Amino acid sequence: MPVPNSPLLRAVRMNDSERMICRDADQLAQAAARRISQWAAQSILERGQFTIALAGGSTPARTYRLLAHGVGETSIDWSKTWLFFGDERCVPREDDRSNYRMVRETLLSPASIAPDHVFPIPTLSSPGESAGDYAATLQQFFRTSASQLPVFDVILLGLGDDGHTASLFPHAAALDVVDVPVTNSPPGTLPPPVDRVTLTYPVLNSARHVMFLVSGESKAVALADVWSGHADAHDRPAAGVRPCGTLTWLVDQAAAPR
Ligand code: 6PG
Repeated sequence: MPVPNSPLLRAVRMNDSERMICRDADQLAQAAARRISQWAAQSILERGQFTIALAGGSTPARTYRLLAHGVGETSIDWSKTWLFFGDERCVPREDDRSNYRMVRETLLSPASIAPDHVFPIPTLSSPGESAGDYAATLQQFFRTSASQLPVFDVILLGLGDDGHTASLFPHAAALDVVDVPVTNSPPGTLPPPVDRVTLTYPVLNSARHVMFLVSGESKAVALADVWSGHADAHDRPAAGVRPCGTLTWLVDQAAAPR
């Protein structure tokens, strides 16, 4: 999927994943926005709707801004799109650590997305109650029973310097939660040190498309471990993401293993 005027540095298919190495964070965001827009159009054509679980942190912000402005190949029919979250910090929505706040500022407000198309993870109850509430929200939207998994069209993920993804942290109990779609997790070792609510591996691995957005030299060691194919998911939780759908890695040159 070429990005006009600035070809990807390289794109390779490794086993069951596609790995695209971009020149920098801007090119990564452009490529991500185009790919998400393509998936959205395909989902809406095939199923009349597009469901996406958004990643938190800072890396996806550029991509969300591009999608909000929806120029050319990065436009999305928001009237048929339903937005969820892969994880959330247990802080108020106005807190600058909130993933919802980041998404609201970069995407929801600029694109004037209708609030009833957005499903934030609740954070006012205890982390465990918030996880249960969000699981119920997913069950209701996807019309699944307690024993069925919601199937997202797309799940976006980031990669922490320690190899975590969503809020699945190394050696955390959440890594072994496989009977519910959403769980809570105490803070990991990386900031911010707050309780989290996160989708669990079974949901991540049920998605039609999973795409990692990884930028910056601080990710290089963890990314190399995950790409090696030998990392234990308890040490590098991103290694446990092996979706039955497609797996795409969009990384910039700074993060790419040498
Ligand atoms: C979070 C994210 C987390 C994030 C990685 C990468 O809530 O922090 O869900 O998994 O994606 O930590 O974060 P950056 O994009 O800020 O490097």
